[in-house]
Amino acid sequence: MNFKVIGTGSYVPDNVVTNDDLSKLVDTNDEWISKRVGIKERRISQTDTTLDMGTKASFAALENAGLKGTDIDLIVTATISGDTACPSTACMIQNRIGADCMAFDVSAACAGFLFAVETAMGYICRGKAKRVLIVCAERMSKLLDWTDRGTCVIFGDGAAAAVLEATEEGLYESVFNVKGGDDVLKIPATNGSSPFYQLESESPYLFMNGQETFKFAVNSITHDIAAVLENAGIAKENIAHVVPHQANKRIIDFAQKKTGIDLDKWYVNIDRYGNVSGASIPIALDEMNRSGVLKKGDKILLAAFGGGLASGALVFEW
Ligand code: COA
Repeated sequence: MNFKVIGTGSYVPDNVVTNDDLSKLVDTNDEWISKRVGIKERRISQTDTTLDMGTKASFAALENAGLKGTDIDLIVTATISGDTACPSTACMIQNRIGADCMAFDVSAACAGFLFAVETAMGYICRGKAKRVLIVCAERMSKLLDWTDRGTCVIFGDGAAAAVLEATEEGLYESVFNVKGGDDVLKIPATNGSSPFYQLESESPYLFMNGQETFKFAVNSITHDIAAVLENAGIAKENIAHVVPHQANKRIIDFAQKKTGIDLDKWYVNIDRYGNVSGASIPIALDEMNRSGVLKKGDKILLAAFGGGLASGALVFEW
């Protein structure tokens, strides 16, 4: 059993924040960010919550698929920036789109879309779900220390969704790797204010050791791509499109050279959105779908890495 994507949608806030805008907040400049990361601008929410963005992306994907909320059998949302710990973002999206189905969140940071698809495949293969809505929504701006130039210039806000439909045809292969630890990337959750705790206070914001993250990223993306192609028995020449996580253009360039997959097959939009965590890959897929570059039967390779540390790659057929 496999799936085909029958609809995609995305939503990003209207508010465009350029590198020059950020240089008024922290000691940075357009040249540094463009050269070292490849970002020119990102969208930063002013009023949209994570749920608002996820809901708008979901409606767009449903419309693209020609479906209503009640046609969906399962909603899997990948987010690390949900507005509430309970209800889950997926439960609230179920409420907002008028669905009547199982719904839950997965937490896998920037690899969230891939972990959500893999989870959905379990339901599809067991015949428990025919149509699954995958939603990735991230309001990264609320997790950042806006005085830390090493992190606040890298991320952006946004959401994207895809509707998967079970099919006997097609192709699906995946690999996942988890190297659990919080020394390289960490986003603390609130400790609350219990009068009984005797914990040291820590920064509530995203912590990232940039160079260690960079090393993990380049190692995992090259390893995961090679492994998934081998497991699927597909030559790299037969991949039509590679959609990598958009964390740093230099990571993408490195992976392109190392894997030897033709440069023109790699989709890059980090210049316009920055790193939108789990939403980066489905935003790219939605752009590709709507611009008509995806053709039936195209073999698409997705590869992502991030907090966990967690990484993965998967191939499927359009
Ligand atoms: N503007 C200007 N200078 C900056 C800066 C900014 N926004 N951020 C850091 N710098 C400075 C540093 O302070 C340092 O200065 P120094 O040499 O005077 O000490 C210098 O630039 C180099 O810093 P370094 O951290 O070594 O830069 P880098 O080349 O490793 O780039 C990252 C930093 C974060 C862009 C890079 O490490 C990276 O992309 N890592 C992976 C991030 C990632 O993938 N995250 C998401 C995981 S999903």
